[in-house]
Amino acid sequence: MKSPICEMFDIEFPMLAFSHCRDVVAAVSKAGGMGVLGAVGHSPEQLEIDLKWIDEHCDGKPYGVDVLIPNKYEGKGQGLTNDDYRKMIPEAHRNFRADILEQHDVDGSVLRSLDDSEGIENSSSAALGRGLKSDYAKRVLEVAFAHPTKLIANALGVPPDWMLQMGKDNNVKVAALVGKKEHAIKQVEAGVDLLVVSGTEGGGHCGSVSTMVLVPEVRRAIKPYGNTPILAAGGIATGEQMAGIMTMGADGVWCASVFLPTLEAETSENIKEKLVSASSSDTVRSKSRTGKHSRQLSSPWTDAWESKDAPEPLPMPLQTMVSEPALSIVKDKAAIGHEGAKKLETYWVGQGIGLVNESITAGQTVQKFKEEFIEAYENINNLFD
Ligand SMILES: Cc1cc2nc3c(=O)[nH]c(=O)nc-3n(C[C@H](O)[C@H](O)[C@H](O)COP(=O)(O)O)c2cc1C
Repeated sequence: MKSPICEMFDIEFPMLAFSHCRDVVAAVSKAGGMGVLGAVGHSPEQLEIDLKWIDEHCDGKPYGVDVLIPNKYEGKGQGLTNDDYRKMIPEAHRNFRADILEQHDVDGSVLRSLDDSEGIENSSSAALGRGLKSDYAKRVLEVAFAHPTKLIANALGVPPDWMLQMGKDNNVKVAALVGKKEHAIKQVEAGVDLLVVSGTEGGGHCGSVSTMVLVPEVRRAIKPYGNTPILAAGGIATGEQMAGIMTMGADGVWCASVFLPTLEAETSENIKEKLVSASSSDTVRSKSRTGKHSRQLSSPWTDAWESKDAPEPLPMPLQTMVSEPALSIVKDKAAIGHEGAKKLETYWVGQGIGLVNESITAGQTVQKFKEEFIEAYENINNLFD
């Protein structure tokens, strides 16, 4: 294909896959697309291990790394420690999370008080809190640039100047995720090389506008600024959708949810089972996980946060410090077959999961996209004879 994305990264098929799983990243790159490793939870040491592994397993094909440096979060730039943040969490939030677990026979007693929850709050949320800080993100990026990374992507705001400069200095493209036309304009003004235009259907953090509206809207809005390539994201789980959105102005796609049930993915067996049986209505867009809107698989955990008795979610990163410790207990219990925990377990996922009803490999997923894309193209072509 002759998409600007194929030219930019020297790939066969303009499909990028965001994944926290290095196996998925390598498999997608080998299949002719390009994998992008989500590194928000990675320490520099862990990233070094994963990128070395990818280098050894991707047959020299290109790959990218994704970080998360939000423009806005509670206490940004104030030098707050994890303990300072912990003291800002109200008792009502600690008790509410423990109550949800206990309503499903999962012991949540360590989650109730400031003192009791110290261990679990430090271990399960510190990684994320750390990853948000820009000096830490810089160290992570230095590791990425020491490998043949071809793309650095940033979510939740305009990449800081130093990141754009690091990209230029290392001849690595810098992409930004956007969920709004206004954000897209700010990003092209700042000089990003590539936009990931992500609609409300997508898993993880998302805005409120659908992919089908947002992609052509952004394409028109950035026209005066040049030809910055666009990857469409959010709800895209088939090659027909990819063909459709590329007729609306996208130069390729960026997918995450469709890879979550793949055989290589990091998701647990319980989550994989829930994902392949989920319909497009089984997700919820809520602030309850991180304090910013993100789309997740509905479960009794997410239902409880939507109920009228739920406390108002706290701003990022405080809400993450509320939810992650509880969800890590749930995950561990679900892994050993606890029925209540299996019901509670959730994962970030988008509405496109309703179109995925089997677990195949990541490479097969890319192949399936290619075949569906060609079929969609031929169907449209047949309208003209
Ligand atoms: C499990 C999961 C975790 C995600 N984490 C991040 C992240 O750390 N950084 C990021 O830029 N995007 C993240 N996203 C969003 C994806 O990059 C992408 O924009 C979105 O998932 C696309 O929609 P789709 O899920 O319908 O394919 C995540 C998505 C999922 C499903």
